[in-house]
Formats: sequence, structure tokens, C-alpha cells
Amino acid sequence: MRSSLSLAVLGSLVACVHALSSALNCVSTTSKSGSIPLASSGNVAPLFFAPNEWPAVQRAANDFVTDIRRVTGLTGKLTNVTSTSTLTSQIKNNVPVLIGTLGSSSLIDSVISHAGDAAKPFTAINGSWEAYHAQILSNPLPGVSQAYVIVGADRRGTMFALYELSEQMGVSPWFWWADVPIKQSKSVFLTSTPCAHGSPTVKYRGIFLNDEQPALQNWAAEKFSNNFGGTAGTAVGGDAEFGAMDDPTKAASGTVAGAPFNRFFYTKLFELMLRLKANYLWPAQWGSSFGVDDKLNQFWADYYGIVMGTSHEEPMMRSIPNEWNEFGSGPWDFSANAANITQFWINGTKRAKGFEEIYTVGMRGNGDEPLSEGQDISLLENVVEVQRNIISQVYNITDVTKIPQVWTLYKEVEGFYDDGMRVEDDITLMWTDDNWGNIRRFPLPSERNRTGGSGVYYHVDYVGDPRDYKWIQVMLSF
Ligand SMILES: *[C@@H]1O[C@H](CO)[C@@H](O)[C@H](O)[C@H]1NC(C)=O
Ligand SMILES: *[C@@H]1O[C@H](CO)[C@@H](O)[C@H](O)[C@H]1NC(C)=O
Ligand SMILES: *[C@@H]1O[C@H](CO)[C@@H](O)[C@H](O)[C@H]1NC(C)=O
Ligand SMILES: *[C@@H]1O[C@H](CO)[C@@H](O)[C@H](O)[C@H]1NC(C)=O
Ligand SMILES: *[C@@H]1O[C@H](CO)[C@@H](O)[C@H](O)[C@H]1NC(C)=O
Ligand SMILES: *[C@@H]1O[C@H](CO)[C@@H](O)[C@H](O)[C@H]1NC(C)=O
Repeated sequence: MRSSLSLAVLGSLVACVHALSSALNCVSTTSKSGSIPLASSGNVAPLFFAPNEWPAVQRAANDFVTDIRRVTGLTGKLTNVTSTSTLTSQIKNNVPVLIGTLGSSSLIDSVISHAGDAAKPFTAINGSWEAYHAQILSNPLPGVSQAYVIVGADRRGTMFALYELSEQMGVSPWFWWADVPIKQSKSVFLTSTPCAHGSPTVKYRGIFLNDEQPALQNWAAEKFSNNFGGTAGTAVGGDAEFGAMDDPTKAASGTVAGAPFNRFFYTKLFELMLRLKANYLWPAQWGSSFGVDDKLNQFWADYYGIVMGTSHEEPMMRSIPNEWNEFGSGPWDFSANAANITQFWINGTKRAKGFEEIYTVGMRGNGDEPLSEGQDISLLENVVEVQRNIISQVYNITDVTKIPQVWTLYKEVEGFYDDGMRVEDDITLMWTDDNWGNIRRFPLPSERNRTGGSGVYYHVDYVGDPRDYKWIQVMLSF
């Protein structure tokens, strides 16, 4: 009874879900009135960010420069700048591109203080989750007559702006995963129309990798793991395109030998997700454990700016059943083994603390099964209280509403809800389909004002009762 590749979207609105494709005209392959060259006549505009910029944005800015090369064949220069004089000495007669996140960029701070009222469109997005604003700005800095300024309200906002420009100039988010050809052109211009997007309607947008064996798992093992199948030394893990492993005869440090879902695999997925403007992942869990297979998986997720969670049946950032089977002791039964299960969850919480996460709360049976007979609602409500106490204890905070949590009303769990089980208002309720592709129920008007909001969990591929199905070539358009 497995749920395969699924979409999990969480937000305060369910019925009205808009994707982030902005239908903007941010770039052009020919010079237009008021546009400025990003790449043309053998030259790429000089690009700048501040040294105190988010690492995720610095990394995505490097992708952006690579994307310019993919499209035009021209190599641009991306520089971190601490002073305006360094910048002016480098730009010569070019119009520079200034990239930065509000509150995390000394460069954008300088632009805001120098440009005055002209900077208002940028400061207007302050505090808006994942929003961005990019446009040509006159006199952005002393001695700079014009620049193209790309500002995000937060780190993902800035990255989404960059990836939007990449997609519009010809790099499909799927160029690597699905070999979508790059649309090449000699020149790319940035148009005079502001390139902007507000906060997405749905706060967390993501996928769940499941039923990953055989297709995804075997492929990942061949491409990203050194010790799976084949002979050591012939594995392709050292292939630069698939992630650099130091020594193709050994598993990379911090990884479990042979575990296919390591950081080399996941960082490719994180990049795809960001290009698609997704932000939330439930990792592969059938034959793997995200936090164990590669000790750096969680670190890299956060470094890329991806929010991690675990599936509906895996509370408190631990993989179930694999991690429980390996590290737990006694039955997966809270009425009989509360102390050991609690310690197991404490460990998962400690491991996840410091990274951007959404905690799955509640409890199901070990391995996507219902809890055994006689597990009652008061016991489950107690489980959620224990889980919130763990968050409070591990994070050393009294207000646990600041740490996002989700309760997924999948299969029998919706029955508990229907029978009266309730969780605190700040916990997102994730409504699900019936495993046949029909959403079982949406929140009623009285359920739509919860501070934790609502989400949808929906299968586009399902393995299990009552019938397996795969949607091939499906285009989901929200
Ligand atoms: C910024 O540049 C300086 C000097 O060029 C370098 O030492 C520093 O590591 C860079 N910082 C970042 C965040 O790239
Ligand atoms: C953005 O809002 C924060 C919090 O209200 C404030 O401290 C900061 O100065 C604002 N930044 C800008 C650029 O307006
Ligand atoms: C809890 O774990 C310990 C070992 O750490 C084990 O001895 C004990 O039997 C377990 N408790 C239950 C109820 O299974
Ligand atoms: C929790 O972590 C402690 C300390 O690292 C370890 O001794 C214990 O075995 C772990 N228990 C579980 C159930 O993960
Ligand atoms: C927990 O927080 C309290 C109050 O903020 C502080 O006094 C205490 O030192 C913290 N404890 C730990 C272990 O960090
Ligand atoms: C939500 O609305 C219901 C009635 O429609 C009300 O009883 C409840 O107190 C409201 N909750 C919040 C958090 O406003």
C-alpha cells in the first residue's frame, strides 16, 4: 500500500492553486526599445552579488551565469562586491546586473539607500514570502548610470527570479533530467518591463518520491553510487556530470556504501525543483533513509534552499520503517513502547534542528499501514502532544507554532479526523485523494481559517491497492 510520486502542496488556500509561471516578457533575443544587453556582441553584462548574500543565491547565480553560456556560448563574470568603487572599476561601459536578497545583501542595501524613491518597487516586496522584483534602474549607485537589479524578498525569491530569466532565455527546468534542448541564441536582452512575481498562492509546493524501486532507484544507483552493482572502479559515480566523487572505488565520505539517494542525486533534484519554483520535498523512503544514507543530505537540502519533510507515515523527520527497524527497539506501538519511540523522535528532531523543515506529526503503522486495532483517538492526540513537546524541548522554545508542522489525513487517518480527532490550529491539515485520483474532501468553510492552513496530497503515480496506476506524459496544470 504505497503512494508513489505524489504532489504535496500546503498553503492557506486549496481550491485555487496557481502555478508560478509568470507569463512575463523579461527577456528578448533582439534589442527592444529600452532593453539592455545581458549577452550580446560577444560580451556578457558583468554580474554582482554581495559577500553576505545567502549561499543558496550565490549558488543559483552561478547557475544563471552557466545558463547564459548554455544559451549564447558566452562566459560571464560573477563577482562578489564589498564596495561600490570595486564595482565601478569593473563595469566600464557595460550595464551591470545586481543580484541580491532584501536584508541579506550589502549591495542591495546600498542601492536602496542611494536610489531613494526609485527603489520603492524593490522595498515594496519586503516580507512577502518568495516574492521578487527585477527591473532596469537608473542611478542605482554612485557612478553607475544604469543597472538591471534583481531583488528577492527572501532567498528563494531571488533564486526564482534568476531561474525565471533562465527559463525565458531558453533553458527549460527539465534540460538535464529530460534532455530538453537548450534554445540557443546569439544575444539575450533584458526588457524594460519589470520582471516580478508576488508571493505564491500556495506556500509550500513539492513532491514525494516513492515506489522508487525499480526505476528511479536503479538509475540513481548506477549514476550516483559507487558500490551498487557492477565492479568497483567501473561505477560511473566519478563522472563529473553526475556529481564529483573523489574515488570511484569508494563510497563518498558520509554516505552509506551503495545508497543511491545520496547528495549527488539529491542536489540534481533540488536544482530541478528550484527551477520549477517548488520548495518542499518528501524524500525517497522505500529502501532508503534520507538522514542516514548520506549524512550531508539534510545539509545540502538547506544549502540549496529546499524545505525538507517526511511522508504522511514518517513522523518527526525519521524514515519509517527503515530507520525504526535499524535504530528502534521494541514494537512501533505508542501504547506499549512510548519511551523508546519518544527517544527515536527526539533524535530525529535534534538531527533536523537548524535546517528548514516541516515536521510530520501524528502516527501510522510501521510501513504505510494503519495502526493496529484499538489505537484510539485520545492516544493519537497524546502522540501529537508528545511530538510538540519534543520540538519545544529540542529547540528550547515555548512557542512551537513557529516551527511548521503538518498532519496528513491519508487513508484511515481521515477517519480519525471524522471521528473527532483534532490537532492544534497551527498544524497544517493535508487533505488527500482516495488512491483513485479523486480528492476525498476539501476543507469546509469552518475549516478554512486555521492558522496552519490546509494542503493537498495527490498521487500522479500510485502502487498499491486497489490498483496500480501511472500517469505518463501527464501535464499538471494548476
Ligand atoms: C568575496 O570575495 C572575496 C575576495 O575576492 C573572497 O575572499 C570571499 O571569499 C568572497 N566571498 C564570497 C561569499 O564569495
Ligand atoms: C524589511 O522589513 C524588516 C522588518 O519589518 C525591516 O527591519 C527592514 O528594515 C525592512 N527592509 C527594507 C529594505 O525595507
Ligand atoms: C526499549 O528499548 C530497550 C533497549 O534500548 C529494550 O531493552 C526495551 O525492551 C525496549 N522497550 C520495549 C517496551 O520494547
Ligand atoms: C538516540 O541517540 C542516542 C545518542 O546518540 C543513541 O545512544 C540512541 O541509540 C539513539 N536512539 C534512537 C532510538 O535513535
Ligand atoms: C533555553 O532558553 C532559555 C531562555 O531563553 C535559556 O536561558 C537557556 O539557557 C536555554 N537552554 C539551552 C540549553 O540552550
Ligand atoms: C474559524 O471559524 C470558525 C467558525 O466558522 C470559528 O468557530 C473559529 O473560532 C475560527 N477560528 C479562527 C482561528 O479564527
